[in-house]
This record gives sequence, C-alpha cells and structure tokens, in this order.
Amino acid sequence: MMASARDAPANEASRRLIDEVAFGEDVVVHSFVNLYGCRIGSRTRIGTFVEIQRGAEVGAACKIQSHSFICDGVRIEDEVFVGHGVVFVNDRRPRATDGEGALQTESDWELLRTVVERGASIGSGATILGGVRIGAAATVGAGAVVTRDVAAGETVAGNPARPLPARVR
Ligand SMILES: CC(C)(COP(=O)(O)OP(=O)(O)OC[C@H]1O[C@@H](n2cnc3c(N)ncnc32)[C@H](O)[C@@H]1OP(=O)(O)O)[C@@H](O)C(=O)NCCC(=O)NCCS
Repeated sequence: MMASARDAPANEASRRLIDEVAFGEDVVVHSFVNLYGCRIGSRTRIGTFVEIQRGAEVGAACKIQSHSFICDGVRIEDEVFVGHGVVFVNDRRPRATDGEGALQTESDWELLRTVVERGASIGSGATILGGVRIGAAATVGAGAVVTRDVAAGETVAGNPARPLPARVR
C-alpha cells in the first residue's frame, strides 16, 4: 500500500495517541485520536475522536470523519468516505469472559474480516458487521446496519441494510 512509510502524520495536533503506525505522505490526524498498529495511506484525513486498532488498514485519499471506530480485521481501500460515528464490528458473538470467569483473550474468539472497496461511502452512524464486503463506489445510508455484502455501486439503507429501490436513486 505504501512505498515509503513514515511514523508520524504530516500535521501537528495535541493529545493524539500514535503507536506503531505506518503513515503515507501528507496524512492529517486531528486531536484526540487513537491510532495503534495500523496503516494509513497518503493524503488521508482523520477527524477527532477516531480510534483505529492494530491490524486495520486505511487506504490513500480517504476521509475518516470524527468519532468513528475502525477495528482489527478491517481493510479500507483508497478514496473511501467514512462518516461520523461509524462503527465496525469484528466479533459476531462477543463475551466478556471465557465461561470460567476469566476475561477472554484473542484466542477465545474468531476475528471477522471486512473490506470496504475503493470509492465507497459510509453514512454517519452506520454499523458495519464483521465479515462483509462493501463494493467499490457503493453508498451506505446514515444509520444503516450492514449485515451482508453490498454490491459495487449499490446504495443501501436501514436496519438491516437493504438496497434502496431504483426509483429513488
Ligand atoms: C442513503 C442516502 C444516500 C439516500 O439518499 P437519496 O438517494 O437522495 O434518497 P432519498 O432522500 O430520496 O430517500 C429515498 C427513500 O429512502 C429513505 N432513506 C433515505 N436515507 C435513508 C437512511 N439513511 N436510512 C433509512 N431510510 C433512508 C427515505 O426515507 C426515502 O423513503 P420513502 O421513499 O419511503 O420516503 C442518504 O439518505 C444518506 O443516508 N446519506 C448519508 C449521508 C451522511 O451520512 N453523510 C455523512 C457526512 S454529513
């Protein structure tokens, strides 16, 4: 994804947690952002209060708006728009403990992988369940809960997210 990775974004901003992140050129990261163990492509903009976890990948020229959460197992390709407060999910049946009272560890659950293809757009407040593929240039409506793959170029909305009838597009 990145020819020459940097270990810092292009801008200065206060109160950012940045740990083991590979940045492309000219990445802008605003304040109150947590980024660890992830990759961020060139020219991407990351808004306030975003968290991107270890193992996640964000492509080039993306816009990640404030308050969104991008977890391990998510790969976002280039030129993707992620609205405000978008939540990705990577565990279908999460539990706090392992059945014997011990807190679960990474070995106790299966990581679901999600891909958002080039040029897709995800509306504010959407929840993207694990293991789905959102096709190139697709649009996810605000507040949608995406439970299945979205075809390239398709617009989906609602809970569960379904294609909007062609007449309204
Ligand atoms: C999904 C979306 C792209 C559809 O836009 P559109 O094609 O112009 O559709 P319309 O506004 O004409 O609405 C068509 C129908 O879909 C419904 N609809 C539109 N958006 C919806 C949504 N997010 N969830 C559920 N239903 C939705 C409308 O109520 C309407 O239903 P009706 O025909 O029964 O009245 C848009 O509404 C949307 O959610 N965009 C995301 C915006 C966003 O989050 N931006 C983030 C940064 S500000």
